[in-house]
Amino acid sequence: MKKITFTSSIEVYSKTSELKDDDASLLQVAREAVAHAYAPYSQFKVGAAVLLENGLTIPGNNQENAAFPLCLCAERVALFAAASQYPNVTVKAIAISAKSHNQTLDRPVTPCGSCRQAIYESEFRGKSPIRLILQGETGEIYCIDSVKDILPLTFNADFL
Ligand code: THU
Repeated sequence: MKKITFTSSIEVYSKTSELKDDDASLLQVAREAVAHAYAPYSQFKVGAAVLLENGLTIPGNNQENAAFPLCLCAERVALFAAASQYPNVTVKAIAISAKSHNQTLDRPVTPCGSCRQAIYESEFRGKSPIRLILQGETGEIYCIDSVKDILPLTFNADFL
């Protein structure tokens, strides 16, 4: 028997003033995008912002539906909006923030499994790691150099 061990690393910052300028501005766009989320069913509003290699920032937020399975997460709304307008431009980073109706989110919100896979598809497509910048409403900020750090044993087109 042999064992495979995963190592991943997350930078933890206690306030936004500690962030690099690029990370701080992208997080600010994600925070602003929270306000425009359409989340009447969960009352859980998520904002995301994608930074492209050409310097453009594309916001997104969760879009819900009375037919619940149709709900789309903020991360995928932002990523797909970016890819639909700039299909050949590499994604460099994505920031995510959220606001809950039930609690003050004082810890970072981490992307769901489906969004991790979608972010990974963009990494694979752009052949470049995507940095993640995560914060709740308040509290610590997590920065992660690649989605692979939170998605071990990734599935990609090489298997097809
Ligand atoms: N949601 C996101 O937008 N991103 C995540 O990473 C987690 C969940 C949305 C989906 C749904 O509209 C609401 O949050 C509650 O799950």
